[in-house]
Amino acid sequence: MDIGIGLFGLGTVGSGVVKILQENMDQITKRTGSRLTVKHAVVHNLNKPRHGFTQDFPITDNASDILDNDDIQIVVEVMGTLDQAYDIIKRALNAKKHVVTANKDLIASHGQELVAIAEANGVDLFFEAAVAGGIPILRTLASSFTADEISRVAGIINGTSNFILTQMAINNLSYAEALKLAQDKGFAESDPTNDVEGFDAAFKLIILSNFAFGIQPVLGDLTINGIANLTDTDIADANSFGYAVKLLGVAQRVGDTKEAISIEVAPHLVPFTHPLATVNNENNAVLVNGESVGEVMLYGPGAGEMPTANSVLSDLTNVATDLALNTPGRPFNSFNQDLNLAKPSQ
Ligand code: HSE
Repeated sequence: MDIGIGLFGLGTVGSGVVKILQENMDQITKRTGSRLTVKHAVVHNLNKPRHGFTQDFPITDNASDILDNDDIQIVVEVMGTLDQAYDIIKRALNAKKHVVTANKDLIASHGQELVAIAEANGVDLFFEAAVAGGIPILRTLASSFTADEISRVAGIINGTSNFILTQMAINNLSYAEALKLAQDKGFAESDPTNDVEGFDAAFKLIILSNFAFGIQPVLGDLTINGIANLTDTDIADANSFGYAVKLLGVAQRVGDTKEAISIEVAPHLVPFTHPLATVNNENNAVLVNGESVGEVMLYGPGAGEMPTANSVLSDLTNVATDLALNTPGRPFNSFNQDLNLAKPSQ
């Protein structure tokens, strides 16, 4: 089967998606039974130079070139903007196109509505790349913990802030130097405020909480503190006492009955002996505690071109499998639990 892809965004992640599709074409075709090809890309800036792949598809700045194109069955949204992405994804789903997105802000704030639209139209909406870059955490939570009761999901889920903290601690870079380097490497969001103030981690933690606990938190349900106010001295002092400073997102059952969930993003002192203390630079790690399994840790690159693109490809190949088996419209995660949200601490 030939499957056409329309790509919104050809920045860091979009370029990685094209590279993997072109370089691993034979393997992908063999494993999915389908030939996935980019038919069209829509970008903001037509004049930006693009390298590293063969541009064998047209690039325009008109969304309708993809949304009205009958040769395109899957829309990949990797633009990173909120309002525009929301409109595009809604139009795509209503046009019965499958959607793969890496947009955590969008999924954290409009995910349930978009999932409902996808289900109503019998199409897939997948977003593995929205959380923890290259770590396959969402599919793992959705498929491997179905019979277990999760008590906590926690970890380092923002590559940029972890990169900054690591560079300040190990290479004595200033906060500004480390942030600049993270931006140059393409880890940071277009507005890095979200990375350093904890909002990027908060969006990811909202999605993780949904997959782990079946709840639908909103930003106001979380306590959020970033790393922007940490100084070199804070980090050096923590190190001298045997602790690394790490920005952690933690969602856990609390209270006597464990029926409430508290959700928090904040810098933590992590003893050097703890596995999370060794997670450096743009790497992420997610700890999942299940009643039956105990503690599982998934570790890997949390940002960057090829790791994040690999997660997009995992979604694309899952859509291809659904098309081959005639099972599209499969919800990524659809269970709901009767749990309360604990009040955010001040
Ligand atoms: N800005 C994000 C981060 C990119 O640094 O983790 C991956 O979501």
